[in-house]
Amino acid sequence: MEEKKTIFSGIKPSGDLTLGSYIGAIKKWVELADSYNCYYAIVDMHAITVRHDPAALRRRTLEQLALYIACGLDPKKNVIFVQSHVPAHAELAWVLNCYTMFGELSRMTQFKDKSQKHADNINAGLFTYPVLMAADILLYQTDLVPVGDDQKQHVELTRDIAERFNGIYGDVFKIPEPYIPKVGARIMNLQNPLSKMSKSEQDAGGCICLLDKPEDILRAFKRAVTDSGSEVRYDPQEKPGISNLMQIYAVCTGKSFEEIEREFAGKGYGDFKMAVGEATVALLRPLQEEYNRLMADKAYLEDVFAEGAQRASAVAEKTLAKVRSEERRVG
Ligand code: TRP
Repeated sequence: MEEKKTIFSGIKPSGDLTLGSYIGAIKKWVELADSYNCYYAIVDMHAITVRHDPAALRRRTLEQLALYIACGLDPKKNVIFVQSHVPAHAELAWVLNCYTMFGELSRMTQFKDKSQKHADNINAGLFTYPVLMAADILLYQTDLVPVGDDQKQHVELTRDIAERFNGIYGDVFKIPEPYIPKVGARIMNLQNPLSKMSKSEQDAGGCICLLDKPEDILRAFKRAVTDSGSEVRYDPQEKPGISNLMQIYAVCTGKSFEEIEREFAGKGYGDFKMAVGEATVALLRPLQEEYNRLMADKAYLEDVFAEGAQRASAVAEKTLAKVRSEERRVG
């Protein structure tokens, strides 16, 4: 039997998860669990590259775990853990720093963007952020890294670092590839259907968070931007607003675009927006209930983290031992 491939992804515990993150990422992860060995790290050490509130970081880390489980990500089938609970990440990152060029890191577009946004705090961690990410990925001998477009450059750099290291010391690391799921339901901002749904202050009303209250969700859909015309028809070019709402409705109800078009034939955008709002509330209700139940059981969540760290460490330590012995001929 062929061995299962390994998937690794990391998410910072720095923002609220959105309907876009659920449909575009987490829901897909749930489906991958049986066919791959999956590792999902909550990357708290990446989160401290910008100034943060320690209590909030701790709280969000636990909340994020509860949300993953509530979304259906099974901690028995997937290894879900906190990056800082596995010290191998920090150690490998240091070693890889010595195999990464200043010029390579200077070319990272995310570094350039972030140093503009945080001009008062361009710390070295922000600069070497992609090296820690490379360590995350390489420790698990990862085959595939599911990421959005914005992270592809970091995965490319990871490959370059791994190839450089292997070129000197032999096959220490598996060379990973970015994994962009084929049918990518990308959920767009409700106020601006040409840009991705993501949490930021500027797009109030355009973004649905998984823990939003039903009345706020309904209001956001009622106010969602639509297109000219009055027909509910799937056409991302001509009707980006309606098509985005159709994507959401399709995920919530399991209906095809044709079925949706038939359901709303002769009805206006108003009726359709109401229906999408209600379907989203219905999708999120059980998820929110499960989240609340889990958050009331912190001991269980801490156990999941402890077990995740143990399972992750076992694999990470093996790779690290190989690095130590090849690079230093010790141990
Ligand atoms: N840099 C990623 C982001 O900003 C998060 C991340 C950290 C990551 N380590 C990773 C993603 C390893 C994939 C694999 O979204």
